[in-house]
Amino acid sequence: IKDWNGIDQIVLRNPHGASATVSLYGGQVISWRNDRGEELLFTSSKVNVKGSKAMRGGIPICFPQFGNCGSLEQHGFARNKMWVVDEDPPSLPSKDSNGKSFVDLLLKPSEEDLKSWPHSFELRLRVCLGMDGNLSLISRVRNMNGKPFSFSFAYHSYLSVSDISEVRVEGLETMDYFDYLCERERFTEQGDAITFESEFERVYLSSPNSVAVLDHERKRTYVLRKEGLPDVVVWNPWEKKSKTMADLGDEEYRKMVCVDGAVIEKPITLKEGEEWIGRLQIVVVPSTFWS
Ligand code: BG6
Repeated sequence: IKDWNGIDQIVLRNPHGASATVSLYGGQVISWRNDRGEELLFTSSKVNVKGSKAMRGGIPICFPQFGNCGSLEQHGFARNKMWVVDEDPPSLPSKDSNGKSFVDLLLKPSEEDLKSWPHSFELRLRVCLGMDGNLSLISRVRNMNGKPFSFSFAYHSYLSVSDISEVRVEGLETMDYFDYLCERERFTEQGDAITFESEFERVYLSSPNSVAVLDHERKRTYVLRKEGLPDVVVWNPWEKKSKTMADLGDEEYRKMVCVDGAVIEKPITLKEGEEWIGRLQIVVVPSTFWS
């Protein structure tokens, strides 16, 4: 299908009625619905002007830079490029496709990209919707020739929540983190679980491979499982910052939390011909208890 700008989108469906929609603009998952048709990812009601920036919401891909700590545009250029469908991708282990509906996308650098980041790479993304409605994203970056290069990466996942003050994130207890609000100072998490009562912008370092986001009101838990993605970003802009963001409604920060599988502290370095793989799977389970 095409969006209102004429950009191609691919819709994945499973036999039980779940779906996922991926845009060729940015290789961005822009919708993920369960078998009851409920949207599981947040998307802003305020739309960007075409081509200026990735849509706020869904799962933008941050590559080859995270944030603005580098010479490139914020979060790198991949989310603002047109990707293509990869008709004949190199094979992946069977766990990355068995019983799933999936699509493979590909991004190669344009002339313009090579000027700002002079490295010949191929970035592949497989988006899979499982029979059980789970969403998996598998990214592969390959150094196609020349000198080694290094990059950061994040699946900037905007999860839809009932109300941010009802949300807690579990699995990052006792982890070290960078607090981006305090000029990237390193701290250690002390509390039981993360809860939200003001602007929140942290990168948890070398975190466990599974993180849970509990939404008390909806009795819904997102479980994020990751491989090859040591760090986890947790972000909510809260009230004041939201007001400075043209593409986010003033109260919409209440309906979202970003929890990203990422590679930030120690960038990946690839020599010629080498490949990196980063997997993120998001599973939604009903919360059976609230501790
Ligand atoms: C977060 C960053 O991950 O992404 C924030 O920590 C940033 O600093 C946010 O504001 C959104 O970025 P952007 O470029 O999509 O507005």
